[in-house]
Amino acid sequence: MDEETSFDEISGKLTAKNLKKYRAFEKLALGTLPKYQAAMQQMEVRLKILDQDMKSRRHRSPIHHIESRLKTPLSVFEKLERYGKQVTIQNMRDHVMDVAGLRVICSYVQDVYNIFECLQKQDDLTIVAVKDYIAEPKPNGYRCLHIIVKIAVYFIDEKEEIPVEIQLRTIAMNFWASLEHDLKYKAVRDIKGINTVDELRICSRVIEDVEARMQILAHALESE
Ligand code: GTP
Ligand code: MG
Repeated sequence: MDEETSFDEISGKLTAKNLKKYRAFEKLALGTLPKYQAAMQQMEVRLKILDQDMKSRRHRSPIHHIESRLKTPLSVFEKLERYGKQVTIQNMRDHVMDVAGLRVICSYVQDVYNIFECLQKQDDLTIVAVKDYIAEPKPNGYRCLHIIVKIAVYFIDEKEEIPVEIQLRTIAMNFWASLEHDLKYKAVRDIKGINTVDELRICSRVIEDVEARMQILAHALESE
């Protein structure tokens, strides 16, 4: 699911001055992004191996599916501008930690933390940041475990530690986040007496409750 940006989209978003700056950056970025792609592929394989091992030895597959995406040069450019940083490859390396992104959709909350624990034990990975929006949901109700890991990738003549953002969430959290994401773009506020912000937060809590109940059920059935 690589993001693609058409010419029209780019020229529509940037002023003439920025367009020139962007083109210079794009050229360099296109040479560097394959490295992030490699790191992301390697990380995805690691996650799949964990899933397979749990399947074969614990008889349950914690991962429902994995999604991946690589930022486009335009998206990196916009992020650096937003951060007030000079648009350079060095600043991309230093400040944009989500050039490569994986979304790991698990069945239950326990699976999310089990996978996280396994990653923490892999001594050749460096976990550089953790944001636990499951323990502390965002005020709008968003729940997910975000981690940034650096993974070593070997190229022809060098080894590089490359960051990958991993979002670990359950099917239920993904359901809420996907719908909320769509609604955000519709810029809905209070329509027909419905306070949409409150409503979304309530939906998140209801989903959390259902998910917890189903996990109890799953535990009970597994222990039979
Ligand atoms: P950016 O990476 O610049 O967006 O800021 P940040 O690093 O402070 O954000 P954070 O790590 O909290 O979240 C980054 C990603 O998480 C977003 O690109 C989304 O994929 C997801 N995300 C965070 N908050 C929300 C939310 O409220 N709703 C939805 N649907 N997704 C969210
Ligand atoms: Mg981020």
